[in-house]
Amino acid sequence: MMGTALVITSGKGGVGKTTTTANLGAALALLNKKVCLVDLDLGLRNLDAVLGLQNRIIYTLVDVIQGRAEVKQALIKYPNLKGELYLLPAAQNADKNVLTAQSVKSVVQELKQEFDFVLLDCPAGIETGFENAVAGADGAILVTNPENSAISDADRIVGLLEAKQLEFSPRLIINRIRRHLMNQGGTMSVEEITDHLAIPLLGIVFDDDQVIVTSNKGELVTMKPDTPAAQGYRNIARRMLGDTVPLMAVKEGSSQAQTSADGENSADAEKAASTGSQELTASEKTVATDTTPTASDAQTSDSKSSDSKVSSENGSEETNETPRKASFWSRLFGRHEH
Ligand SMILES: Nc1ncnc2c1ncn2[C@@H]1O[C@H](COP(=O)(O)OP(=O)(O)O)[C@@H](O)[C@H]1O
Ligand SMILES: [Mg+2]
Repeated sequence: MMGTALVITSGKGGVGKTTTTANLGAALALLNKKVCLVDLDLGLRNLDAVLGLQNRIIYTLVDVIQGRAEVKQALIKYPNLKGELYLLPAAQNADKNVLTAQSVKSVVQELKQEFDFVLLDCPAGIETGFENAVAGADGAILVTNPENSAISDADRIVGLLEAKQLEFSPRLIINRIRRHLMNQGGTMSVEEITDHLAIPLLGIVFDDDQVIVTSNKGELVTMKPDTPAAQGYRNIARRMLGDTVPLMAVKEGSSQAQTSADGENSADAEKAASTGSQELTASEKTVATDTTPTASDAQTSDSKSSDSKVSSENGSEETNETPRKASFWSRLFGRHEH
């Protein structure tokens, strides 16, 4: 088996990379996947705390890279999941310079032999830590908040990622959406953000107090299926495995979401939406088409990338295939049929 490594990145700090890594990992494991989370945010080491595994660390990524431990000795298992979720922890006081693109790549390569998904929690910024994380990745999930400062940092990352030509083109998660603010025009809408960043939307996650409450207890909000954030992460995991799942409703007052501004009943809204009785809004179309790449999708993606690179990479083997980028996501689904 050869798994897929995805880097969770953002540019700006504090937008929810670590939260997303942990909860998306759990959501994929709940769907019976084998998932390994790698904490590449050296020095901060908070993925272990979010998972409640901080007291179980024996060896870290740095021990593995410096030859003091085998990868398997450093992995810590998250308990009580149907599939499997493991953490490869970071070292707290390690010199960041011990990581190199090549060393990260070789550890990730080894993990891909054992796991369906390897999710790389990336440090903020665009320096060495980002470069190392991306070096190990087959694709990227870009996390942003609806605030303009986060979006403009995300925009820089999009440019850098495009230049890397990873096997899977980047996908977007908009995290911490405050519905009332968005509906009042206090932030850009889901559609505006997606259009602005010009990468396909993988999903949205509402701002949800339960993320903070659970995280403070070393628990994962994904394990509380009735919370809006859990719904968001679970939907994203399903989309990654090829399911077409409508986007949760952001607008209040629609029959999908008649409840409070902070999305209390969005789990119900989600159920209503998935019956298919509702007409899809524009933003739902954005995500819906994402799961099944279409011809127009192909054209859009294609026109964004450098022609020379696409044609040279498609080369002789892939001459009859759809353009490289459009075929990525469907190839990912193909790898992870369930
Ligand atoms: N959807 C959400 N709703 C509420 N709080 C969130 C959400 N996502 C993240 N947070 C909180 O935001 C803070 C930063 O998140 P974190 O995942 O550590 O960001 P990053 O890794 O990008 O720096 C944390 O306190 C986290 O609990
Ligand atoms: Mg983090």
